[in-house]
Parts: sequence; structure tokens; C-alpha cells
Amino acid sequence: MAKTRTIFVCQECGRNSPREMGRCPNCGGWNTFVEEIVAGDPVPSAVQRMVGQRSEPQRLAEIEGDPWERLPLPMEEFSRVLGGGVVPGSIILIGGEPGIGKSTLLLQVTALMAEYAGPALYVSGEESARQIKMRAERLGITTDNLFLVTETNIDVILSHVSSVQPRVLVVDSIQTTYSDNLESLPGNVGQVKQAASIFQHLAKESGIAVFLVGHVTKEGSIAGPRVLEHIVDTVLYLEGDAFQTFRLLRSVKNRFGATSEVGVFEMQGAGMAEVANPSEAFLAERMVNAAGSAIAVTMEGTRPLLAEVQALATMTSFANPRRTANGIDFNRLLLITAVLTRRVGIRLSEQDIFLNVIGGLRIDEPAADLAIALALASSIKDRPLPADMAFIGEIGLSGELRTVGQLPARLNEAGKLGFKRVLIPRSVRRNADSLPDGIEHIAVRSLDEAIDLALR
Ligand code: TYD
Ligand code: MG
Repeated sequence: MAKTRTIFVCQECGRNSPREMGRCPNCGGWNTFVEEIVAGDPVPSAVQRMVGQRSEPQRLAEIEGDPWERLPLPMEEFSRVLGGGVVPGSIILIGGEPGIGKSTLLLQVTALMAEYAGPALYVSGEESARQIKMRAERLGITTDNLFLVTETNIDVILSHVSSVQPRVLVVDSIQTTYSDNLESLPGNVGQVKQAASIFQHLAKESGIAVFLVGHVTKEGSIAGPRVLEHIVDTVLYLEGDAFQTFRLLRSVKNRFGATSEVGVFEMQGAGMAEVANPSEAFLAERMVNAAGSAIAVTMEGTRPLLAEVQALATMTSFANPRRTANGIDFNRLLLITAVLTRRVGIRLSEQDIFLNVIGGLRIDEPAADLAIALALASSIKDRPLPADMAFIGEIGLSGELRTVGQLPARLNEAGKLGFKRVLIPRSVRRNADSLPDGIEHIAVRSLDEAIDLALR
């Protein structure tokens, strides 16, 4: 391998320096320098030795095989998020907060792949092989095609890859791996990027499917998954409330499938269990006839999802009343309270407001506006909403209800879960014949009208 040299490069303005500098003399940015390799071969010759080839242009027609061929993965919730299985030679980043369940889920996935697709190698930089073995026992994993190793040095990892010859490689986590060619510590942006690009080359040239685990911290992501998003093919985030058992696996980038797909899991005593019918799970503990509770029908990717929104409004003892939103955007809550005050005449200026989406779910879709507004109105009036009614609609600043997409799918899901009536925006009435029968849809023009209907 040609001799390598490293330099430090300012990420703001591109200024080079042989040393790391706290402040960039060119653009004045603080802590913007990141170590990079300039000379020599950025990809260790070990990768090249292992795959034994250099690139060679091919005619389009000569490229063999179905480019979308996928390794089987009999875990529907995971497989769907990837677009139908794991593409050989692809590199997939799984981000999430520490403790959310990344290692658990990936160990389950690799065990399944070891059984159905071929040998799998799980490299951990955080836990000993014994600890992983104990977890595997807890998860009931028995396959003997799964290899475990604790290692953080990339060159050593590559030599393990070449002796095991796996079809699937897991690196847990990318922040703990390091290359000898860089002087900076593991976890540093330069190291993390370098490690990711080495694994990216490995995946592309060997056809091994590579999963990288990346921790995201609460404050954002220093040297975390964000800096890697452009290097990898697919980015998944595992989300959830640490105090709740539900976990959502979201795809935010996917070269081999649609983004916005979501897989739902529940963290149980023996690992992550797939939740095939999330609406049912999210409504399991619902108390009917309680004031302040409303059912929203949202879409997660292509899948409709019913979620309970709870609101509580109480007289404040502060000069500035408090607003707390869990599971919806805070500004959305402010907008909806403003519309309730100005367009409907419900006074909220002396009320503390707490809003919660049940199950640790996060709803970013405006289609849930109507449910949020009605949960609030129901709490203020201390009158429950009808137990068999669900709500769909975006609220505009004039208090009008605006139409939302994929209405038939939403209505079907509500019907399937036993709801009899759904309030929907009037503007969708135009193509009302495409809406499913079997569930009554009541079209309303404004928030005012919806409140009259549901809380009279
Ligand atoms: P882990 O997969 O180690 O999280 P991450 O890799 O994202 O940091 O999961 C840690 C949590 O999961 C831990 O609090 C214990 C819990 N857990 C279960 O509830 N059930 C299980 O079967 C396992 C293995 C872990
Ligand atoms: Mg872990």
C-alpha cells in the first residue's frame, strides 16, 4: 500500500492544515477541522486483496443478473422497510439512541439471515462475545452459521471477513471502529467517515450486505449517522420512547426502495417482536367515553395507522400558561390552539395544555389536526367524543378543514378496527364514490362544524 499521510480539513471552508486547529484561521469556525487521508490508498489493500479485483467498465447489456435480487429475510416488518429484503452488496446504516434496541434487532436479523441466506458475521466493538452469546440465548437463537467477534480495528475486521466469507456483515457500532491510518480517536468524524467508506467499498466489491450501527445522541449527532447518510445506500432509524415498548423502524433514504416505509416492533422479554397490526396495538388500552381522547387516522408510509390523541386542559396558575406536546410538533399544537381560540371561540389563554400521543408514537402528519383539536375541545368541555368515531383532516388558519391524501385506505383501516363513523373534510366529497362502503363518512367544512357534530 502506498504510504499514507493525513491532513486536517476545515468542514466549513475547506482550508487544509497539517495539524488540528481549534479555530479555522480562514473562516473563523470553531472545531471544524476533521482528519482526512490525502496520499496513498484510502481503501486498505486488504479489501482489494480479499476481492482480488479492480474495477472494469462493462457494457450495460453485459451486466448480469437482476440488480434487485435480494437476500431472503423472513421478518416482514424489517424486510418491507428495506423495500422487500436485503440487496447483496448494499450498505445499510441503522441509527438510533443508545439503548433503543439496535443491537437486539440486528442480532435477530443476522441470525435469520445466517439461516436463510448464508454465513453471517457480527462484529461488536461494544460488547464481548460472551455478552452477545447471552443475548442470543435470551433471543432463542440457535443457528450455527452466525459468527461473533469483538473487534474495533478495521484491518483486523477485514481479515476476519476474508476468513469467514460471510454474506452478511454487521458492524456494531461504526463509532467504535478505527483505522490505524488516522491518528484521531475512534468516534471522531474523520474516523467514522473513513470506516464507513472502507465498508462501502467492501460491500460494493464483494457483494456482502453490510449493516452499520450508528448511535445518535439526544443533542443531535456529533460524528453520528448524519455525516454518513450520503456514503451509505440505505438509512434506517429505530425510534421510540425509552419508557414505552413500541419501536418504529423508519427508512429515510433507500436506493433500493421507497422511503417513508415504517416497521413496527415491540420490545419484549425475548427481543423485538413484529407488530403486524399496529392500529390494534396502539388502541389496546384506550378508555372509551373519557373526555379529551380522540382517534386520529394517520398514514405511516403506505400503511394507515390509528392512534389515540389525548389532551388535558386545566386552569393555569401561571402568568404564561404552559403547553406540552408529546408525539406531535409543538408549533402544530400552538397553531391548533390559536385556531380554536380565534375561529371557534374556545378560550385557552388561561389553560395549561398537555397533549400526548399514546404508545410513544410520533405523528408528523397534518391529517391528525382534527383529532388533536377535538381532543382539546373535548377536554375543555369535559364531554367525551363518541366512542365509535374517528377523525381525519388538516386544519387551515381560517378554521377550514383541508383535504388529505389516501382517504380510502384510512377509512378502510378505521372500519376494520370497528369504528362506525369518520369525520372527513367536505372538500373530498367530490370523489366520494371512490370511498369504501361499510363505514359512514361525515363530511364537514370547518372545525366549528366538526365540534358541533361530535360534541353536541
Ligand atoms: P440494545 O439492543 O442493547 O440497544 P442499543 O444497541 O440500541 O443500544 O437494547 C437495550 C435494551 O433492550 C435494554 O434496556 C434491555 C432491553 N432488552 C429487552 O427488553 N428485551 C430483550 O430481549 C433484550 C435483548 C434487550
Ligand atoms: Mg448496542
